[in-house]
Parts: sequence; structure tokens; C-alpha cells
Amino acid sequence: MLSNTTRPDPGDGGIAPEPDTALDPDAMRRPLSDAWYCVGRSDAVSGTRLKAVDLDGEQLVLGRDAVGQPFALRDRCPHRGMALSKGRFDGEGLTCPFHGWRFGLDGRCRDVPTLSSSDQADFSKIAVQRFPVRESAGFLWVDPYLGPAGGDVPAPPELGFEAAGMAVVELVVEASFDLTTLSLVDPGHVAFVHDSWWFRPSKTLREKVKTFTPTPHGFTMTSHGTTTSSPVYKLLGGAPQVEIEFRLPGVRLERIEAGAKRVANYTFATPLGRNRTMLTNALYWNMPALSLLKPVAGVLMRQFLTQDQQVLQHAQAGLDRKPTMVLFGQGDLPSQWYFRLKREALTAQAEGRAFRNPLARQELRWRS
Ligand code: FES
Ligand SMILES: [Fe+2]
Repeated sequence: MLSNTTRPDPGDGGIAPEPDTALDPDAMRRPLSDAWYCVGRSDAVSGTRLKAVDLDGEQLVLGRDAVGQPFALRDRCPHRGMALSKGRFDGEGLTCPFHGWRFGLDGRCRDVPTLSSSDQADFSKIAVQRFPVRESAGFLWVDPYLGPAGGDVPAPPELGFEAAGMAVVELVVEASFDLTTLSLVDPGHVAFVHDSWWFRPSKTLREKVKTFTPTPHGFTMTSHGTTTSSPVYKLLGGAPQVEIEFRLPGVRLERIEAGAKRVANYTFATPLGRNRTMLTNALYWNMPALSLLKPVAGVLMRQFLTQDQQVLQHAQAGLDRKPTMVLFGQGDLPSQWYFRLKREALTAQAEGRAFRNPLARQELRWRS
């Protein structure tokens, strides 16, 4: 809640005006509007292949121009609402399959072929919305925000090494963006939801102590010489260093290092629509020999993500009946931090200033 206690007293005993930066209460329930969201793999679009995606209730069509630069347009012909992704794309423009209107990749209407020479209509003012796109870590990222530019937006994640291989699993979860994103920072569910032998061979709960430090738009958990007995870490040999970063809007970056060996396990949450969220899990490695394990990795990653999907969908049904949560104990602090980070992002945006991370370095203990 934004307080106005630091505002000057009106002095005349009157009521201080509502701060113009007051948070819209609905804004906290929605995904952050000004943020980069993962909209699919880079290789989902190539040549003249288009891809239709949902993003926070919006429909987008993704593609690449003649020199390979990605673009994102609203997937809706202004004429009758037809999906432009169903039309023809020649590398320079999209032709709507309904009445043949043609649009350039800047979104501007270039041609209305049904116009007669006696038609005085000027179609140059007709356009479809274009959205900014970035390409990073093998994925395309779109910021669906249409307000004034200049927000302090967290960067899409990058991969800090040359990947020899990559496995990706995408899964739609019928749950809200917040509930799904909380699962990325929730240590308490791991022992109960992800209890597969290959991930968590020991069935007993043990006390964990981890140090968390703030990062530009989130926080990081570092552990040196991880104590986990997971075979996934054993594969790397030695005592791997593991760093897990959470970053707004819904990005979890697990980086594992053992000598020159690198593995990155990235998870992204993307809001598709109300109570519909895409979870994308990407595993990258820099040892060519590990590529032999890619099919196995894909199966295990899908199993892992499906475990989250199943509990999240049941929990969403409970939250639909009563939309409250009790965040309790140190294991739930990262979940509370998520909401604090989100609130700060919204406040900074409303006040037109840089994001100031409200978190401090802290040691947390929980059993898992
Ligand atoms: S709906 Fe697109 S041209 Fe008519
Ligand atoms: Fe999980």
C-alpha cells in the first residue's frame, strides 16, 4: 500500500489530496504491463513462417523480416478482425486472407485491393499495432506495454556461455500468472510436488540455510558446493556452484558451474490470458557429450513441469472459490518478496522513476 504520510500536511486541516501515484488496486492482480515476456523459441519463426501467440489477453503474430529481424504485430486485421497469422507473408508484408488488405511490417496498411479508382478513401492511416521484440537466450521476448516509453524494465535473461545444446519444454498451466510465478520462488513445495527419484532421492525433510541477496529487479540465492544429492548435480561431478536468480516479471535462472562445465536451467512464466500461464523450461549445457542425454532431459523436464501444472491447477480452483493466501514462515518469504518487487515495479512506473529494490540481504531457513 502506498502511504501518503511523507506528503506535506495541507495545513488547513483539510484532507490531503489523493497522491496521484496511488496504485490501481487491480494492477497488483494483473501481470506487470511493462515487462519482457517470453513468447516462444527463436527458431519457431524463420523464413516466411509465422507464429500466432497469446500474451496477456492479446493475440500476436510473430515472424522475421527479409534480414531475419523478428517482428510482433497484433494478430488482428483492423477491417473485420481476421487473424493475420492465417494470411500470406512474403518477407515484406502480410496479406489478410479475408479481403486481401496488405500490411507492412511497421503495421501500416499498404494496400486495399478492393478499392475502386473512384474510391477517395485514404488507407495510409489504417495500421495494426506493432510491439517491441527482443531475442535472447534462444527465445523471443515481447513487451506488450502500450503506454509512454521510458520505464525501468528488467532485461530479458541472457545465457552467459556458449551452449553446446539446449532442451526446451513448454506447458500451459490453467492458473493465474502470480500463482504460477510463485512456484518459481517457493522452496516449500519441492519436497512434496517434485519427489521423483531422479530429482530428490531422499525422502526426509532436512533443514536448509541459504543466503539471499537483492539483484537489480529480483533476488539471488547462492550456494557453494551444493549439499543436494540430486543425480542431476552429480552428473557434473565435483562440487558444483549453484546460483538461482529470480527476476521480474516471472523469470527463474538457475546457473550451475563445475570447473569449466556450465549448465543453465531457466524457467519463464508468460501470462497468456486470465488464469492461463505458459511455463517454459529451458536447459542449456556447454559440454557436447551431454547432448546425448537431450531426449532423456526433455522427458524429465516435462515430468517436472507437469507436477507443477497439476498442483497449480488444483490450487487455482481453490483460489477461485476464495482468493486469499496465508504466506507463513521463512519458506514463504521469497513469495512475499515477489509481491513486494511487483508492488515496487508498479509504484516506480506510476511515479516515473527508477526501480529501487526494497529487499535486503537475508539468510533464510526452511525444511525441505
Ligand atoms: S478482415 Fe482483413 S481484409 Fe477484411
Ligand atoms: Fe515446482
